[in-house]
Amino acid sequence: EMAEKGGYEHFMLKEIFEQPRAIKDAVYGNIEIIDGVAERILNAEDVIIVGMGTSYHAALVGKYLIQRFGKIPIIVEEASEFRYEYENLLDKNSLVIAITQSGETADTVAAMKLAKKAGARVIGIVNVVGSLATRIAETTLYTHAGPEIGVAATKTYTAQLTVLTLLGISLGKLQGVDIGEVEKTIPRLPDLVDSVLKYNGKIRELAKRLEDKRDYFYIGRGISYPTALEGALKIKEIAYVHAEGLSAGELKHGPLALIEEGVPVVAIAPTGKTFEKMLSNIEEARARGGLIISLGDDIRLQDVSNVFLRMPKVPEEISPIVYIVPLQLLAYHLSVLKGHNPDRPRNLAKSVTVE
Ligand code: G6P
Repeated sequence: EMAEKGGYEHFMLKEIFEQPRAIKDAVYGNIEIIDGVAERILNAEDVIIVGMGTSYHAALVGKYLIQRFGKIPIIVEEASEFRYEYENLLDKNSLVIAITQSGETADTVAAMKLAKKAGARVIGIVNVVGSLATRIAETTLYTHAGPEIGVAATKTYTAQLTVLTLLGISLGKLQGVDIGEVEKTIPRLPDLVDSVLKYNGKIRELAKRLEDKRDYFYIGRGISYPTALEGALKIKEIAYVHAEGLSAGELKHGPLALIEEGVPVVAIAPTGKTFEKMLSNIEEARARGGLIISLGDDIRLQDVSNVFLRMPKVPEEISPIVYIVPLQLLAYHLSVLKGHNPDRPRNLAKSVTVE
């Protein structure tokens, strides 16, 4: 087993470090077919993206990308909710994109079947070749991340985001939206992810400092909101601590009441549309005593944070791929420090095939 782990202590850590390669393969594996899918998106009357767990968070990032670059509104639903609500809302002009690593998640597969039965077109974004989902979808965009053993999804998530970013670029071209910077960043993605993997040691130290914390708040806005959700999910899954992912705008509407001295607040704050707003949200949390851990490229974050992780400057639309990596590492180290096995968290399964 040690050999399979390639010298890493756990599969999860190995898979986190495989991300530069997984991203590269996701790009090369999809270049040829992505434009056809983009055209089908533009021809559809309504587009709904479904998934569960981490794949649902990828769907949310996809929503921001497709809306910005494709200039069309997108609906995202958890497959488990979609399947009981949409039977009368779909027809042949609907397009359903199902995101699933395993291609076997019961709710996602059921959502795809429902859509197909209603005459909708169904596209899959799937990792496991030949899985159930790929047999239902009319077209599958494979993520090409390779087998993922750790129960908590890591490299398959960034591969899903890569495919969705390619889709965004393709839509932007069709819609005459400027995608120049984003497109130029794609070949640099493996190196950018590599550069944040270098924070591994620093993040292990951070995890030691946080070891006794029981509640975490992850905040982000816009395209960073799903990153907050995914960062929180990672530590719930494997470190068994309570964590909430929030859109930073919601902070004032309740969660702020829970922030007191020493409560960790992880702020995902790349430069972009909502950065100034994020800064003020961070200040609000800090004024209540929150222990602020911020991720961003603007040096002003340093003054409002207890811990500042300086991230490479990337177009905001690319940031979800780069920013999730330190959050995966944080969850991993917290889990190990607490004496858990991050590869096999209690009560959870890699693929939920029962409803
Ligand atoms: C399970 C796994 C998660 C995964 C989710 C959806 O809950 O533990 O890591 O995100 O299922 O799985 P899928 O294979 O459909 O992406």
